Amino acid sequence: MRRLVSETTLRPRQLILPMFVAEGADAPRPIASMPGVVQHTRDSLRKAAVEAVRAGVGGLMIFGIPEHHDAVGSGATDENGILNVALRDLKAELGDDTVLMADTCLDEFTDHGHCGVLDANGAVDNDATLERYAEMALAQAQAGAHLLGPSGMMDGQVGVIRRALDDAGFTDTGILAYSAKYSSAFFGPFREAVNSQLKGDRKTYQQDPGNAREALREIELDVAEGADMVMVKPALAYLDVVRAAAEASPVPVAAYNISGEYAMVEAAVANGWLNRQATVLEVLTSIRRAGADMILTYWAAEAAHWLD
Ligand code: PBG
Repeated sequence: MRRLVSETTLRPRQLILPMFVAEGADAPRPIASMPGVVQHTRDSLRKAAVEAVRAGVGGLMIFGIPEHHDAVGSGATDENGILNVALRDLKAELGDDTVLMADTCLDEFTDHGHCGVLDANGAVDNDATLERYAEMALAQAQAGAHLLGPSGMMDGQVGVIRRALDDAGFTDTGILAYSAKYSSAFFGPFREAVNSQLKGDRKTYQQDPGNAREALREIELDVAEGADMVMVKPALAYLDVVRAAAEASPVPVAAYNISGEYAMVEAAVANGWLNRQATVLEVLTSIRRAGADMILTYWAAEAAHWLD
């Protein structure tokens, strides 16, 4: 009877697996603060992607880790940069079997670790960054990404990327806008995952954790600029925002169950304090119950197997 009246579905197709690929890696490198998650080689990325797609996940979100960083994040726009090369690998391997997504942000590629380029005072220069995002978007669309994920929280990023794509004929390439992204302590393990060089914080461009109304404003702007889907991130500490977004958004809403949320559960499981499978499925169900249409989660492939 519980099954009959259950209000919330959790299906593999609603899960998106974020994956990391490191330039020059000859073996997968474990990420200490995210047990079970690795920086892939090009080859291990391909294999893990095929497995995830077989398990039924709805999409893959790819992050690149370059060997060399510089002030403008050159590796992000270089067609031979690791992220663009990996997208081409996956497109060749998977075709249109799954939704191939790319992180459209400079922080993995810059030597200062910020999501954009800096002005003379060392602050992120919003409008100069938009030009880099447009170039990055084109490189990713050319490499075969179906859906771009601008995650840098620059004002106007969705509109600039949409125009750049359309002008180059990529009218079918979509945008999953990281619309409501909070300046969160829960991103900690991600910094290790991408060898981030960041000193300082992202408070000049990411949202204050206390603000909910602002999230709706950010979503409205992104939808007006052409976002095909919007995102709330992190997920667990922001389920009220996910709920509000689900009620207000005219386009599908994603929530990102981020690195720190993964690390918390895995750490407790490693101590024998939580039951892993039950906790993971409860976490994912709660994000769906809050109203997210889809969830980015490092457990996507495993959870898809459990749900099968
Ligand atoms: C920025 C980006 C970040 C994450 C995804 N895209 C880091 C940040 O904004 O600081 C975090 C994902 C996670 O913590 O799991 N390119």
